[in-house]
Amino acid sequence: MLRRLHPDQPASFAFSPENQKWAEAQMTKYPEGREASAIIPLLWRAQEQEGWLSRPAIEFVADMLNMAHIRALEVATFYFMFQLQPVGSAAHVQVCGTLSCMLCGAEDLIEVCKEKISPTAHTVSKDGKLSWEEVECLGACANAPMAQIGKDYYEDLSSERFAELIEDLRNGSAPVPGPQNGRFSVEPAIGLTSLLEGEGAGSAVNKSVALAKKFKDTIKKIDGTEANLSVNWEKQ
Ligand code: FES
Repeated sequence: MLRRLHPDQPASFAFSPENQKWAEAQMTKYPEGREASAIIPLLWRAQEQEGWLSRPAIEFVADMLNMAHIRALEVATFYFMFQLQPVGSAAHVQVCGTLSCMLCGAEDLIEVCKEKISPTAHTVSKDGKLSWEEVECLGACANAPMAQIGKDYYEDLSSERFAELIEDLRNGSAPVPGPQNGRFSVEPAIGLTSLLEGEGAGSAVNKSVALAKKFKDTIKKIDGTEANLSVNWEKQ
């Protein structure tokens, strides 16, 4: 897939004060003259701030790291985790379309995306709230089919449940991630046959889901306000 910059670009980009401070601290992790090693985290933070990576954002990061613009453009266009076009303001939905998920119904999930978000991937829905794309294996094959939304995985999806999730996102709520069919984690469909005691036994949800529920941050973007900025690698 050819990855190009979007034809409509904003006039400028700047990190928020919190993100600027965080980015400058990241650069101190590396020896003098090697600040370019911070390219991935800085581009990622720019994407978290804006939702996608515009050309001004890529060039802003390149200037911070004293890199030629083309070097930063090479990184941004190489890695599929960087969105080169605007995404939905509420969420960008990434549906796994690789083997296990495809065998278990990923095509049906993609049809839901086409119907409820937009007929084509990487296109923002009419209300501006959602966008979607098909991605390669996300490593949750035992819970196929699944989708990543924000930082979280939504697993064991049916078309009906996936459609409900999308409506929840559209209406501003952050649905609880994890298995969506009542499964605890990756145990057999008939229930656990071994490891019947010990950590996790008796819990209603697995630890990852419990943390998502506790922090209610399922689709929250990293904006610098949640991070402890007193990094111990910072130069004195
Ligand atoms: S095939 Fe979908 S998570 Fe691996």
